[in-house]
Amino acid sequence: MLRSALLNVMAKAAQKAARGLKRDFGEVENLQVSLKGPADFVSAADHRAEKILKEELLTARPGYSFHGEEGGRVEGSDKTHVWYVDPLDGTTNFLHGIPQFAISIGLERDGVMVAGLVYNPVSDEMFTAERGKGAFLNDRRLRVAGRKKLNEAVIACGLPHLGRGDLELFRREFAIVQEQVAGLRRFGAAALDLAFVAAGRVDAYWERGLSPWDMAAGTLLVREAGGYVTDLNGNDAMFATRGIVAGNETMHDALLRMVKKAA
Ligand code: IPD
Ligand code: CA
Ligand code: CA
Repeated sequence: MLRSALLNVMAKAAQKAARGLKRDFGEVENLQVSLKGPADFVSAADHRAEKILKEELLTARPGYSFHGEEGGRVEGSDKTHVWYVDPLDGTTNFLHGIPQFAISIGLERDGVMVAGLVYNPVSDEMFTAERGKGAFLNDRRLRVAGRKKLNEAVIACGLPHLGRGDLELFRREFAIVQEQVAGLRRFGAAALDLAFVAAGRVDAYWERGLSPWDMAAGTLLVREAGGYVTDLNGNDAMFATRGIVAGNETMHDALLRMVKKAA
């Protein structure tokens, strides 16, 4: 597929980091049987992947700021561009040998997300989008699902992790949503959840407590696939409020109403 120079830079960086992640994912399966488990090993894999992504992206675009999950934010000389990078989204899945994880790269220009890439090295699915140019899965153009009836919809969500987040609130949301939809899913990698909305695999998605690197690329994927994304107040402040609702217009609005009701 003919990609822009920018997407080529992002794809090359993701593929390079993915080679290491894939190798490490193979190791994880062997480590499951050990008493200590693969936790330290996975954390090292995560850091290695971020180092590769940072090197690749900043070599190709020197001066851009870099906001990675592991290394935090590094300000560049160029004040207009920021990379948002999650080297391994879906760590818990990775740790358990579940092949639902991804590298996520978003590029912001003057406060607006202009390019996004989400890559699952195991399925070799690369989701990409550029502002105004559509969203793609490898070389296939993506559209969000067209479903309008809640009782036919499959909705993805995120569960609060043990000891983090408001479990009671989530249970209220879950109860309200579950009563009205065909099915609920918890896949465990926010960047891929958003990519799945863009690809029409799920009709909508909501989650609280996310970080910018989880949402940066996926938000653009959904919008470029014709979908709607807001925070849980219906505004565009996902990074600040850490909540997200995504779907086609009808599903987005319906889901937003339901989660608001729970709050
Ligand atoms: C996590 C995943 C998960 C979401 C968590 C995130 P990580 O990212 O996206 O689906 O529920 O809130 O922190 O830690 O695997 O990069
Ligand atoms: Ca993440
Ligand atoms: Ca991560």
